[in-house]
Amino acid sequence: MDKSDHRRVSVSLVDVAAGREADFRTLATHVEAILIRKDYGRMEVIRDEASPLRFYAVRFWIDAAAAERCHGDPDVQALTTQLYQFARVVHVVNGVRRADALRLQLDDRRAHAEGDRRSGFERRVQNIGRPEGDRRSGERRVGARRLRDRSDGVDLVGAARRARENADAAYSHFKVGAALETGDGTVVTGCNIENATYGLTICAERVAMFKALSEGHRVFTRIAIVADTEAPTPPCGACRQILWEFGGNLEIELANLRESRGKHQLKALLPLPFDARLL
Ligand code: THU
Repeated sequence: MDKSDHRRVSVSLVDVAAGREADFRTLATHVEAILIRKDYGRMEVIRDEASPLRFYAVRFWIDAAAAERCHGDPDVQALTTQLYQFARVVHVVNGVRRADALRLQLDDRRAHAEGDRRSGFERRVQNIGRPEGDRRSGERRVGARRLRDRSDGVDLVGAARRARENADAAYSHFKVGAALETGDGTVVTGCNIENATYGLTICAERVAMFKALSEGHRVFTRIAIVADTEAPTPPCGACRQILWEFGGNLEIELANLRESRGKHQLKALLPLPFDARLL
């Protein structure tokens, strides 16, 4: 095989905070130098024509192994940590992970159907909940909570449990929490919110997804769903459809207040989906 066939490309979308453009340029120059010096590949930073604080960081890797080495490089990691202080980064193309052919096809269709995929830097960092607190008391969990699960990065189930406490389930009394992880590792939570008309009730999963979309996220990896039941509470049909539309073949972890009750791929829960490929 020709050597060039091993090359890979990764693209990240970088929204830089106002006033920090010079810092971003300096940092990018350092990263570019490391990529060349350590023979990982090279990087080009391209500014978005329409929005001056948006950049595309395109990395051209020598091969997948070089990209992996670069991701594990402490010098690069230190610079990335600095970058996260003043920029929001969404990984649009990951040239190292094998592409999900179905997802790519779907994204292509959605790109044609949707005109504007821009997003802004501004976003809520923290879910502060209802200012006056939870109106319905009694089900609150007490004690310290872990923010991070040491073994597996973000504790998504923990985040879903906390979100569940904000559920407004006045009619069913069935509280659900969800936590959605985005491509850049941000966790966006949701809870079910019921309505006296019943039909306007919205599930935790859709709240999480719509919040995330409205804050500019377009790449999703996992979602955790929590209810206070022994049997796992899987997403309803409407939520499966919405999750598939925007998140593709997400990993879905179902849990109750004590333990995880299993992981599933969305494709398995929605085996014959209707989506943009059929339009
Ligand atoms: N619900 C969710 O929020 N997510 C699910 O996965 C299942 C159901 C909510 C909707 C409604 O508020 C309550 O649970 C009872 O159906």
